[in-house]
Amino acid sequence: MATLLSEPGLETGPAETAATAAATTTTAAPRRTRKISRERVSAHDGFLTHASGRWAKVGGTLALLSLGLYLFAGVSAAHFGGSWLGYSLGTIGALLIVWLTMLGMRKRAITPGRWSLKAWTSAHVYLGLALLVVGTLHSGFNFAWNVHTLAWALMLLVIASGMFGVWAYAVLPRALSDNRFDAGGAITEKQMIEALRSLDRQLHEAAQPLAPDDAALVETSLDEDPFAGSLVARVSGSYPNCATRRAARQLREARAFRPRTAGDPLDKVDSLLARKEAMLGRMRRHLKLKAWLQLWLYVHVPMTFALLAALSAHIVSVFFYW
Ligand code: HEM
Repeated sequence: MATLLSEPGLETGPAETAATAAATTTTAAPRRTRKISRERVSAHDGFLTHASGRWAKVGGTLALLSLGLYLFAGVSAAHFGGSWLGYSLGTIGALLIVWLTMLGMRKRAITPGRWSLKAWTSAHVYLGLALLVVGTLHSGFNFAWNVHTLAWALMLLVIASGMFGVWAYAVLPRALSDNRFDAGGAITEKQMIEALRSLDRQLHEAAQPLAPDDAALVETSLDEDPFAGSLVARVSGSYPNCATRRAARQLREARAFRPRTAGDPLDKVDSLLARKEAMLGRMRRHLKLKAWLQLWLYVHVPMTFALLAALSAHIVSVFFYW
């Protein structure tokens, strides 16, 4: 989970790693100097509708064709896997799984153009969905507690996590950027960290004239590592033991019974704690969204390798032991 809980300040994540850098070369007259400009293109921008939904049509056709043959080719369901249609669907399914796995390598190679990462991802998504039909029909619905059904179940898990990934890529980048904006404009993760540090410095100064008990409360907020927290806290964005929130609440409760005086240093501390609470909330929302953007890949990728292992066992056992 090292990258899931990636160090704050590093603006990386699946949304960024899959982005491709498309380099274009232009000649600038009159000095004829070559200028290289780089444009970052997000692979997730519109991969679902890439090339007017070409891969949706290919995937849909493959799924419908498989279903039509399954329903009307007159092959017995009892030993469907071993029939000509069963073998054909099995071969197509296995080849698809191997090809779908290769997206991992493709993501790490920068080759824009006809087979851009966007095109590849679009094909990955729709052929992956078609695999649901191909792989399930290949089984002939003969499920049991064996390695064959295990391969099918792992395939379902990989496909389901992929569907979650598509949802995450469609929804979360927008939420991430909304969270970065406020009345003052956009703020980056680095700026959020800097803002927290600056608030801590101001709090430290403002707490100097406070009574020892009050200062100790502020100290608990300053001592708290804003990024410490369990995986559950990171993913849920809920930090019930937040020292800043506790300090702010306890100071307000204590103040409620004291007479108000002009120039009370607690006024400044209170407003700084409120600002820190708000910035912490924003930072934690940001980290939560980033975690959700990556979380599904921690199922998708390991389960892909488990699927490849179960698929190999399935193929070996079918050919050698049946
Ligand atoms: C058995 C079928 C599948 C296999 C074996 C598979 C495998 C993979 C692999 C190996 C990666 C690369 C992960 C990485 O290196 O970061 C990947 C990425 C991805 N998969 Fe799948 N996948 C399958 C089905 C699906 C389905 C059905 C969907 C969507 C409905 C899907 C959506 C995605 C997405 C969105 C990515 C990330 C692309 C990116 O970040 O650029 N996958 N998949």
